[in-house]
Amino acid sequence: MIVRSRSELAAARRTLPGTVAVVMTMGALHEGHAALMRVARERADSVIATVFVNPLQFGPSEDLNRYPRTFDADVAMCEREAVDVVFAPDVDVMYPGGEPSIRISAGPLGDRLEGAHRPGHFDGVLTVVAKLLHLTRPDIAVFGEKDGQQLALIKRMVRDLDFGVEIVGVPTVRDPDGLAMSSRNAYLSAAERESALALSRALHTGDVAAARAVLDAKPDLVVDYLALVDDETWEDASDATAIGRMLVAARVGRTRLIDNVQVHLGTRDVG
Ligand code: PAF
Repeated sequence: MIVRSRSELAAARRTLPGTVAVVMTMGALHEGHAALMRVARERADSVIATVFVNPLQFGPSEDLNRYPRTFDADVAMCEREAVDVVFAPDVDVMYPGGEPSIRISAGPLGDRLEGAHRPGHFDGVLTVVAKLLHLTRPDIAVFGEKDGQQLALIKRMVRDLDFGVEIVGVPTVRDPDGLAMSSRNAYLSAAERESALALSRALHTGDVAAARAVLDAKPDLVVDYLALVDDETWEDASDATAIGRMLVAARVGRTRLIDNVQVHLGTRDVG
């Protein structure tokens, strides 16, 4: 069932039996989203998917207007994955009074790494996630590990502000050649896609210097950051860090891509 208004969503929500999981998306769904829906299905009796391209999380020079919109195919995927309710609001439904003057602040972690290159991005993400949690009232919310910093911040928001919902992370789904699935991969030409493969190759070295060398070998990649953080605290990894997370963001042509992997620092095994 597709619902577009708050009242339709509330009515549909009342009919859902048992526990409810939500999968929040901006549409342009791919196998990574299908994996989130399958985990949601396993973990709860009913599943809501949201499809909303959130203007609040795009900077003025970012790709809000050209962000891929594939609604019919998105609904077909939701049907295949046995989603019970698709909530697809317009901007006016989500932000009836215009952009909200009060927003969730992502705090210091929101200004680092991805946040340093996309000022305000995580405040916009957390604000819409908070609103969608209020509107859908789930027991569980499922997010991908590909947006690792987003997932960490959502977990912190839910803990710090007592949202009373379980946040479940799902491992990144990759194409057979290693490229992390992303709606933005649709922008890549064949040559750009070939260069983009360096991101996952670099991360899978498990070592920052080796990763840097892989990235440097691709002159058409403009690296925004390559970092190794403690997977628990998200501070820079130190000698005391056992499990880290290596993160990369880079631009190829007009497309900006991110990826990350967990690294066991004793063995350099990539999880
Ligand atoms: O990960 C995304 O697609 C978006 O950031 C989210 C969580 C749906 C919020 O707009």
